Amino acid sequence: MKLIDVEDLWFKYAGSDQWVLRNICLEVEEGEFVLIAGKSGCGKSTLLKCFNGLIPHFYEGEFKGKVEVCGLDTREYPPYILSQYAGMVFQNPDNQLFALSVEADIAFALENIALPREEIRERVDWAIKVLGIEDLRERSPVELSSGQKQKVAIASILAMKPKVMLLDEPTSSLDPVSAKQLVELIAELNRRHGLTIVITEHRIDMLLPYISRIVVIEDGEIALDGDPRQVLEKYDLRVHGVAIPKLVRVSNTLRKIIKNPLPTPLSVDEFVNILRSLKG
Ligand SMILES: Nc1ncnc2c1ncn2[C@@H]1O[C@H](COP(=O)(O)OP(=O)(O)OP(=O)(O)O)[C@@H](O)[C@H]1O
Ligand SMILES: [Mg+2]
Repeated sequence: MKLIDVEDLWFKYAGSDQWVLRNICLEVEEGEFVLIAGKSGCGKSTLLKCFNGLIPHFYEGEFKGKVEVCGLDTREYPPYILSQYAGMVFQNPDNQLFALSVEADIAFALENIALPREEIRERVDWAIKVLGIEDLRERSPVELSSGQKQKVAIASILAMKPKVMLLDEPTSSLDPVSAKQLVELIAELNRRHGLTIVITEHRIDMLLPYISRIVVIEDGEIALDGDPRQVLEKYDLRVHGVAIPKLVRVSNTLRKIIKNPLPTPLSVDEFVNILRSLKG
């Protein structure tokens, strides 16, 4: 099932004469885990904002083409409806949390769409369990660490039961260990709970073992789009302003030194297996 369908999308912000998104055509199917990569300012966050209706409803500008989320034309439905299908987690969790307790924060959006009390309770309990934040339930969001806050932000989106979760650099305020933990949690939401994920991230090394697709944006246009291993084997990401993941660099160098057409590893475990197979 097609969850996101973008047809020839162009967007420029009001007061600017530059198209930030140009000729974007993209379809996202249910179950995919899509990484949107590209150098700073290429239009990644702007594209995500088109998926939950913040563009064109909240940000003014010129919008051409069409975006459909679960069959709904984003021009015709307000963000509060669209966010029930495509929920967004922002870079800075502080912008998303404001209630007195974690539990109240997760319930907030559910109360806004007037779900019955019992359903709210069930969904809050479920989201807290999935994220493994039972110990934070009664805590005030302001006293949590960045990693904990980001988990609460994800839980509050998850509780809305969206079809697709949009995450805009969710790990950028986290230390490497918390970032890795959060990425594993997001991967788990995709693998175990079948949630479709569209994520932007600069630290692509961390996501590589889990994503099913990489879309590289350059100057507002899609430069590359495909299976991560195929994209990495066929193209030099640096040409499009994206650093080559470390693991891939090491394996590319090794391939040249030993003159063996090694497959490209997406995780350390895969690389270890490739090295082991060389011995035998
Ligand atoms: N609200 C806005 N009004 C006007 N211009 C904007 C606005 N938000 C972003 N832009 C411009 O649009 C372009 C794309 O910005 P965007 O935030 O989508 O890039 P990005 O790829 O997410 O960058 P980063 O990796 O730094 O997060 C940039 O030139 C930016 O300055
Ligand atoms: Mg951004």
